[in-house]
Amino acid sequence: MRSLSSGLALLLLSTSQAVAQNSGTFDILSFNVAGLPAILNSNGVPGNKRDNTARIGQLLTQYNTSLIHLQEDFAYHDTLYENAQAHPYRTETSGNVPFGDGMNTLSNFAFEGFERVKWNRCSSITAADCFAPKGFTYMRVKVAEGVSIDAYNIHADAGATLLDKRAREDNLRQLSNFIKTRSGTNAVLIFGDLNSYYTRSGDVPQIFRTDNGMKDVWIELIRNGAEPADNDASVPNCGVPAANLNCEILDKVFYRGSPTLALQAISFKYASDVYKQESGEIISDHNPVYVEFAWSRA
Ligand SMILES: *[C@@H]1O[C@H](CO)[C@@H](O)[C@H](O)[C@H]1NC(C)=O
Repeated sequence: MRSLSSGLALLLLSTSQAVAQNSGTFDILSFNVAGLPAILNSNGVPGNKRDNTARIGQLLTQYNTSLIHLQEDFAYHDTLYENAQAHPYRTETSGNVPFGDGMNTLSNFAFEGFERVKWNRCSSITAADCFAPKGFTYMRVKVAEGVSIDAYNIHADAGATLLDKRAREDNLRQLSNFIKTRSGTNAVLIFGDLNSYYTRSGDVPQIFRTDNGMKDVWIELIRNGAEPADNDASVPNCGVPAANLNCEILDKVFYRGSPTLALQAISFKYASDVYKQESGEIISDHNPVYVEFAWSRA
């Protein structure tokens, strides 16, 4: 009896040691999947949107990225989820336009506290942004036992007129303020479609650096820390697929660690080389962004 219980104690001890993981890696993908109803917007993507969405789901299964933020997951959502088989944790759709916000998350990590927040301000000068209740989503993702990161998906107002820019600045400020209260000193990830260029005057993606202490992975790993200036002609906007990593896209990835969690981005790429049609044609009018992170308990 005695040896049995000490054996049991040993077993429990080794189990809890295995659970108390102290460091690790994970990867993330941000992807605007161009899922507006084809009748409203072809997005300039060849082929049939439902077939393309099915293939996106299959590729998401194949590459099995740990945490995926989707935007414009509207009219073909059911097809996407039917084909995206790998991820056990996923948000429920908020619906097609004009009811849903198009944002969803697929995750290999459990999460809690999921919330959708609508922007206070929108501008339909370009891109009918007020047609769908766009905004951001929040969730606390459990990366390991006792290790959590607050993850925000985002789809900001589109367009380049003054009113679009004002709406978008208000959007980013709204999220920045939300993070201050909701996340406190926690580790944070923001990845999604900011609809913002550093090179476009009036766009303010740097707010998450200045006001929330976060780093943009593209700026850190590809540009050695240098944010492009307004109208910097040496930094073109990318096409799809992106010609290289030096051009800029509207979709961005920001992160920070916390006093108890060291977080470091270790790779960055535009993933249109793998997310494409079988024929090689583009599958969305956005490049997906793929980043790997390393974490350790601080
Ligand atoms: C996806 O990755 C997780 C680990 O993050 C693994 O447990 C799971 O088996 C993988 N699923 C597929 C379908 O490859």
